Amino acid sequence: MADDGKPTGPDLAKGISLSDIPDGGMLAGHVGGDEILVARHGREIFAVGAHCSHYHGPLAEGLLVGDTVRCPWHHACFSLRTGEPLHPPALSAIDCWSVEQRDGKVFVKDKQAPKPTARPLPANPPDRIVIVGGGAAGFAAAEMLRRQDYKGSIVMLSNDEASPVDRPNLSKDYLAGNAPEDWIPLRGDDFYKDNSIDLRLKANVAAIDPRAKEVALGDGGKVPYDRLLLATGAEPVRLQLPGADLAHVYTLRSLADSTAIIACAKTAKRAVVIGASFIGLEVAASLRARKVEVHVVAPEKRPMERVLGPAMGDLVRAMHEEKGVIFHLEDQPVAIEANKVTLKSGGALEADLVIMGVGVRPRLVLAANAGLTIDRGLVVNARLETSAPGIFAAGDIAKWPDPHSGQAIRVEHWVVAERQGQTAALNMLGHGVAFDAVPFFWSQHYDVPINYVGHAEAWDEIAVEGDIGSKDCLVRYKQKGRTLAVASIYRDVASLQAEVAMERERA
Ligand SMILES: Cc1cc2nc3c(=O)[nH]c(=O)nc-3n(C[C@H](O)[C@H](O)[C@H](O)COP(=O)(O)OP(=O)(O)OC[C@H]3O[C@@H](n4cnc5c(N)ncnc54)[C@H](O)[C@@H]3O)c2cc1C
Ligand code: FES
Repeated sequence: MADDGKPTGPDLAKGISLSDIPDGGMLAGHVGGDEILVARHGREIFAVGAHCSHYHGPLAEGLLVGDTVRCPWHHACFSLRTGEPLHPPALSAIDCWSVEQRDGKVFVKDKQAPKPTARPLPANPPDRIVIVGGGAAGFAAAEMLRRQDYKGSIVMLSNDEASPVDRPNLSKDYLAGNAPEDWIPLRGDDFYKDNSIDLRLKANVAAIDPRAKEVALGDGGKVPYDRLLLATGAEPVRLQLPGADLAHVYTLRSLADSTAIIACAKTAKRAVVIGASFIGLEVAASLRARKVEVHVVAPEKRPMERVLGPAMGDLVRAMHEEKGVIFHLEDQPVAIEANKVTLKSGGALEADLVIMGVGVRPRLVLAANAGLTIDRGLVVNARLETSAPGIFAAGDIAKWPDPHSGQAIRVEHWVVAERQGQTAALNMLGHGVAFDAVPFFWSQHYDVPINYVGHAEAWDEIAVEGDIGSKDCLVRYKQKGRTLAVASIYRDVASLQAEVAMERERA
């Protein structure tokens, strides 16, 4: 869309030359006010909405893979045939148009009715599916069950007071004051009603009885199930320091946490962020947008070095310093008082707002008490089923056999949680699908996005294409010559290509 609000690119109703779209190529144009992407796969030409249904990413700047298109921003994937969102974070379809080829030209014609894309249901699907958790994995599972035309009952139990929210936004635009409240729910209340999803909020699950196949609620109620999905996520660690429970000390996980920080930031002048993690630094960026003075205290030498390596760590630090964030690295807080944080190095920082971003712990108590196998995560097989038949797990709690790294891993990534929720949904219906997505996450610091594909806990080589300091780079983390993971800034197509290459590889 141009600055004057008019759609850009050729008028596709008037036709474009077939030679303008090489095989595997894409082109953005319009029909009337609709912005449309035309894409060619062999002899076939497709026309779909030009923007991703997640955050409106420009699909023409993404990657065509067969008859699908991937979004450059957060790697959602759509079918060009049906518009179906095949990979989260997109959960809504994009529109499709019919196309006519005549005399070497391509004409985009009419918008088409959505085509059903459900797989045939296996025989004897379960009658009752219960999902514990109203976050990324739980929501994606419920949505997928109904997308698959599952007609049985879905009960979703969440001890949060808010219906499933766009959690990554809580430390970014929402906290910075750039995203209105109505962007935050993943779906409006009508969605649950219209899809017969019995979403019960403030419903704390206290225990699971795998023999009786029921979950017990904190208020004494019982909910029976035929298949159960555990998607209880993770909870922020709160350092045990004197003063850690004072009213101006926050952690950030829920919408209520983010709203409380915003309320405090309205009058706060100086904030101390404890921890230079992704969330800690995103909070720092958002508080700077609110003109709060921000100090970051963390034990490491460089922020994010453990995940991204030293050069990217230096860049992250420089980006924040440019915006006025003051780092106190290789240091730790030892006590918090109403208006200051005392540091191990001896000094003290004034603070009327303190945020702890020191990592999370997977919520495993329910699973452990039910006797499920735990090993620094809830152990699942390739189909995301736990050691108890009929009980599945997805998201931050699940430790799964990752076919790409060849290891059992557990990560805390939004897109992984959603994709696992979807796979678990298919498997609760009996499809028997292996979870083999390559892990992906993104993080945003001011206007700079960092995308990360793969999983590298250790590496013996970091290969850089482009220039990290200029924020234009693709960084490969390698072990014995093999790329385990790729981080990138403004190299979206290369990041998508790396994802596709990793999908085709197995350890
Ligand atoms: C502020 C913030 C920003 C983030 N930004 C990014 C990002 O940019 N990119 C990225 O990849 N990842 C990001 N993440 C991580 C991402 O949000 C998580 O990986 C993802 O939400 C995990 O999904 P989940 O479904 O496993 O857990 P969650 O989304 O945490 O959902 C867990 C649900 O379980 C419920 N629950 C827990 N215990 C019980 C119980 N006993 N009874 C009933 N309900 C229960 C909780 O209330 C919650 O509804 C961010 C996380 C936070 C907190
Ligand atoms: S905008 Fe497309 S995946 Fe986020």
